[in-house]
Amino acid sequence: MVEAKTILVTGGCGFIGSNFIHYMLGKYPSYRIINLDKLTYCGNLDNLCEVVQQPNCTFVKGDIADRERVRGILHDERVGVIINFAAESHVDRSIEDPDLFLRTNILGTQVLLEGAREAKIPLFIQISTDEVYGSLGTKGFFTEATPLKPNSPYAASKAAADLMVRAYAKTYGLASIITRCSNNYGPYQFPEKLIPLMISNAVEDRELPIYGDGLNVRDWIYVGDHCQALDVILHRGKSGEMYNIGGASERTNLQVVRTILESLGKPESLIRFVKDRPGHDRRYAMDFSKLKQELDWQPLMTFEQGIQQTITWYVEHRDWWQRIKTGEYREYYERMYGNR
Ligand code: NAD
Ligand code: DAU
Repeated sequence: MVEAKTILVTGGCGFIGSNFIHYMLGKYPSYRIINLDKLTYCGNLDNLCEVVQQPNCTFVKGDIADRERVRGILHDERVGVIINFAAESHVDRSIEDPDLFLRTNILGTQVLLEGAREAKIPLFIQISTDEVYGSLGTKGFFTEATPLKPNSPYAASKAAADLMVRAYAKTYGLASIITRCSNNYGPYQFPEKLIPLMISNAVEDRELPIYGDGLNVRDWIYVGDHCQALDVILHRGKSGEMYNIGGASERTNLQVVRTILESLGKPESLIRFVKDRPGHDRRYAMDFSKLKQELDWQPLMTFEQGIQQTITWYVEHRDWWQRIKTGEYREYYERMYGNR
């Protein structure tokens, strides 16, 4: 168990990282968060506008693969735990251009691990993904013992990072935990991912591109449930362990898209079946019984509730995603922080 008073969150301006910062500052007002984020195309300080001025929430623009930057933070601050959310996270982009995925997801993680080792940080939490396990057939679930069989450059880079975390734990005794979560959805998700892309396109009466036959299955988890799982793991998780996190909500992509269209009162004629993603994983499904049994966690939000809340959020925050879709938000941050 770790006294997590000061947390270095990396990638806190992205989707899950920003939700996690909101969650933690809301629940633990005495904690301090240092948020190291490179502000890549999907890092957006708009995601943190309610908390960014708080004295216990510090933003540092920087790259996790920048050794001196990481060292500087860990030397100056008394960090109790590092939680590494920072990553290139979009599978389609990894297929187009894998290089950056290797640099950020593998080398960046190793730089953080090395910084943690040097500064003797009490705990390192690696935010990994179910995609490291590969693809399932129609039956079965991923457990923590499932062999790693990543199929995309993104998934392979995340699997390599997990192995590097393991190596630092075994070789140097670094206290670490790896979490592997299924597909998240909720507020502040970049509108290149399935759910926010489909909601925002449908609102604007644009086509909804579905890859292949639309029957690929994902296990959807509301991002708030993921944050709660991380809270439990951070405070009560066992060093050296891996924990699967899932939503118990398997849906085909077509089911997800139809739910969105129905809720928005839009016609199915907006659906466009397009060329499949190369190496497209057919099905993910998580067995998270270890987390349930050992730490008494389970998801609270049903998919039906979560998707309605999420649709409402995107409808009410049209400015947020329109600033992204027009690129206006980037011009602003480049003016503020420079294109470093
Ligand atoms: P995201 O793409 O929305 O956010 C990533 C954040 O990392 C951005 O703020 C970006 O600016 C920052 N970043 C990227 N490269 C960086 C670098 N070199 N240095 C510092 N910051 C950098 O991603 P997300 O969906 O919030 O995912 C967060 C983490 O959770 C990732 O590690 C991802 O692999 C993992 N994950 C995501 C999901 C999901 O469904 N979204 C599910 C399981 C695991
Ligand atoms: O499973 C966890 C992973 O979930 C995370 O590790 C990744 O960071 C995250 O991006 C996500 O990966 P997916 O590839 O599952 O998510 P994506 O939203 O890109 O796609 C979800 C499904 O929808 C997938 O089967 C591909 C399909 N899809 C996606 C897009 C963007 C479409 O049919 N059309 C689309 O336009």
